[in-house]
Amino acid sequence: MTILNFGSLNIDHVYRVDTFVQPGETKHSKAYMINSGGKGLNQSIAAAKAGSLVFHAGLAGRDGGFLLEKLQAAGVNTSLMQASPEVSGHAIIQVADSGQNSILLYGGTNQMLTEVYIDQTLDAFGDDGLVLLQNETNLVGEIIEKASKKGLKVALNAAPYSDKVQTYPINLLDWLIVNEVEGAEIAGGEADEGLLQRLADLYPQTGILLTLGSQGAQCVQNGHYSSIGSCKVKAVDTTAAGDTFSGFFLYGVMEGLSIAETLRLATVASAICVQRPGAADSIPTLTEVRQAMKDGSLTPPEVQEW
Ligand SMILES: Nc1ncnc2c1ncn2[C@@H]1O[C@H](COP(=O)(O)OP(=O)(O)O)[C@@H](O)[C@H]1O
Ligand SMILES: [Mg+2]
Repeated sequence: MTILNFGSLNIDHVYRVDTFVQPGETKHSKAYMINSGGKGLNQSIAAAKAGSLVFHAGLAGRDGGFLLEKLQAAGVNTSLMQASPEVSGHAIIQVADSGQNSILLYGGTNQMLTEVYIDQTLDAFGDDGLVLLQNETNLVGEIIEKASKKGLKVALNAAPYSDKVQTYPINLLDWLIVNEVEGAEIAGGEADEGLLQRLADLYPQTGILLTLGSQGAQCVQNGHYSSIGSCKVKAVDTTAAGDTFSGFFLYGVMEGLSIAETLRLATVASAICVQRPGAADSIPTLTEVRQAMKDGSLTPPEVQEW
């Protein structure tokens, strides 16, 4: 089955500094890198590398050519995207010698989706498949409603969390994907052992995937609960770990693999991702994941089901 991701795309401008620039100060940076980013781009790439047929939807800004190339190089279909004369979403990131970062975001074309474009794109996509969203674009609630009305499956990664999430029709989703921070914001209270259950009680019709960093991940669908730990690896950069997990998880459920097998693949894929620096470039292919499992270099923990 096919995935249509109304997803964010970002250009990350990364500057190395000794310490962050202060109010009123002008300073030279030590190095500059330009990276592709955005949870939408990462999740399209992860799902495509897992083996799904993925259409990325959204507006490519006038400076967004390399983002399109990045998607295409990973096998993502960009034919439903539209060109825009505005600037793409971007981030100005300072990375200090302390290792801390300081990030200024501009939504750009990620925040300029229109109902007309959404309707056109849903019509062109057809009636079979899954619509994927993150909380980095505008009109998220409207897209959930429109896609659900067409009978499409819908998954939302409610990241990064904002108060707007509470206004989305979460009960219409087939899958709500959150980490412990986003889950606790939605359900209220602490990110404790009861969190998955509290989310399930709030949204009994919705499948819920809760990722817990190095603690692993849990999910529930139709009263069927599953949980898996994480692979013991040396993490060098956890950027895109959650996006990798989401992409492989959705591939597995869409292909009709068992939840246990799906969780194993997503866990090994994310463990490979955190061992590599970078974001989209650190996402492995399904072939790499299966090879790591076969040669024993990564063994997923046992899945518990109840
Ligand atoms: N330090 C780590 N070691 C091994 N696996 C990890 C580590 N951090 C994350 N993962 C894997 O990546 C998945 C997603 O990470 P998580 O931090 O929950 O997502 P997010 O990036 O959205 O916060 C986890 O469920 C786990 O499988
Ligand atoms: Mg995390």
